Amino acid sequence: MISSFEQTPDPRVKFLMEQLVKSLHDFVRKTDLTFDEWGYAIDFLTRVGQKCSGSRQEFILLSDVLGVSMLVDAVNHREREGATDTTVLGPFYVGEHRAMPNGADISAGVPGERMFVQSRVTDLGGKPLAGVQVDVWHADDHGFYDSQKPAYEQEGPSSRGRFVTDADGRFFFRTILPCSYPIPTDGPVGEMILQTRRHPMRPAHVHFLLDGPGYEPLVTHVFVEGDKYLGSDVVFGVKPELISRIEKRSDAVMPDGKSADAPWHLMSYEFRMKPGQGRAPRPIMAATEHA
Ligand SMILES: [Fe+2]
Repeated sequence: MISSFEQTPDPRVKFLMEQLVKSLHDFVRKTDLTFDEWGYAIDFLTRVGQKCSGSRQEFILLSDVLGVSMLVDAVNHREREGATDTTVLGPFYVGEHRAMPNGADISAGVPGERMFVQSRVTDLGGKPLAGVQVDVWHADDHGFYDSQKPAYEQEGPSSRGRFVTDADGRFFFRTILPCSYPIPTDGPVGEMILQTRRHPMRPAHVHFLLDGPGYEPLVTHVFVEGDKYLGSDVVFGVKPELISRIEKRSDAVMPDGKSADAPWHLMSYEFRMKPGQGRAPRPIMAATEHA
């Protein structure tokens, strides 16, 4: 069977196909897979595909909860050399991020406790990097991303935006404190999580995707310290270095000098980028609609 790929022109494709078949055959042999189980698997994968849409990526979710996404991340980032740790992109990067000025409020009026996020981006030696494009996105106070809501098409994005670092490598914005949330459980992936008695929760976090010329794109999260799901993230995305203490503040002004009308939270985190080429991940919506 493996020799059937002998004529594949691209050596990498040949290698991948041979190894895939070998692993699949090993699985069937080791498990004595029954016809019913094979049929269930075909039906399951069919439903995963059918659940995908322009704003939903059930296959990425499947990859995430099986630990495949984090493994791909690990084998591609073996040498970090002091750069910020990476983690999963997740299924909610829809690539519709509007460029906003530093200090802007990305929450679009959604309710929640106010949070100010301040950050600085440097190279491995601590030199500030100006002009780095930073996409940020996170769940709301109820644990949902904007793209999961029926009104998304009409109302547009909330709790997501794009910032550009200034001459000191800094970017900052206002938003709300995100909370821990369940991955979507209304599809086949959620069904599998519940049937296998796993919990579907992810600890609270903000996603960051940093992209600047001459540096490897950095896909990561900053997690909220103290969250009870930090030790059991359903997609295995937590790394200790990415956990940040969020300070509760009651100062009358926020770090950019503008007034605060209620107690607020401060997230401070610095990112270090590694030199390289790389290519930022494609937006999920574009990938689904135009691939
Ligand atoms: Fe997330």
